[in-house]
Amino acid sequence: MTALPERPRRLRRTPAIRRLVRETTVDPAGLVLPVFVREGASRPVPIRSMPGVVQHSESSFRATVLAAADARIGGLMVFGVPVARDPHGDAACDEHSVLAEAVRWARAEAGDALPVIADLCLDEFTSHGHCGVLDADGNVDNDATLAVYRRMALAVADAGADILGLSGMMDGQVAAVRASLDGAGRTDVAILAYAAKYASAFYGPFREAVESQLDGDRRAYQQDPANRREALREVRLDVAEGADIVMVKPALAYLDVIADVSAAGDVPTAAYVVSGEYAMVEAAAAAGMIDRERAIMEVLGSVNRAGARIIATYWALEATRLLARA
Ligand code: PBG
Repeated sequence: MTALPERPRRLRRTPAIRRLVRETTVDPAGLVLPVFVREGASRPVPIRSMPGVVQHSESSFRATVLAAADARIGGLMVFGVPVARDPHGDAACDEHSVLAEAVRWARAEAGDALPVIADLCLDEFTSHGHCGVLDADGNVDNDATLAVYRRMALAVADAGADILGLSGMMDGQVAAVRASLDGAGRTDVAILAYAAKYASAFYGPFREAVESQLDGDRRAYQQDPANRREALREVRLDVAEGADIVMVKPALAYLDVIADVSAAGDVPTAAYVVSGEYAMVEAAAAAGMIDRERAIMEVLGSVNRAGARIIATYWALEATRLLARA
């Protein structure tokens, strides 16, 4: 027998020993389920590129809210899919927008038992699909967009959102929305800033989910995937402007960024396992190429291990079931 001073395999011998020395575990209380609600839908509409995910009708959405509250997951992230769009995304500021109504339904079903995060961005509401309004040259006008975000924030806060998810990547958006909320006496509404959001190919299926009208790309406002340090700059600014939670997005292709952000800050770090990351695993599993459930838990485990305990994932409910069984 070889005399080895260290034999790490001793701690891998049985499932119980492995459980004893496990360094991280995914916490269902940190899992946030993104949901799409389609204005006027009378039944759930499947999303071709996201098998298992739907655009909800009112009743299927209400049932999902109850299931999420029952499962005691971390929260819901609500996206509205409107029927009409215009260049200014005006409907986003309507107190009866599909998003505001969905937030009301969620609050009616779950009260305070389930945090409701409302997406705060214009891309679902604009006829050109950009996250803001355009200037005369067709570029996204940062400061004009902030004025719209300020109004949209009040509409969804009044509907009962606990947290606003600022996903537009406009400069100064956190400060603008914070000032708008505070000016209306809504110091209680929190801000989750998509601080480091990259211009990613992995958002492809989401664009189908919200019927995005985007022609072109978002590289003039979302981050360049090649940049790591820049994420810390975005986080520094968002925290200084009043962000309560900062998010990195996508997750799996940006684990280094998640690790940096969680090490740098003192606000909670979240990460979003986006539509393309979901679709990739689902497609490979459907083709019999990988073990679906193990792959799901490995993806979520890696994001958690990198430093994001709060994880937005389309698998939130299923992962919670898998964790309970483990
Ligand atoms: C835009 C938004 C996007 C996602 C969430 N909010 C798409 C984009 O920036 O193009 C993507 C989420 C996903 O892919 O799951 N407000």
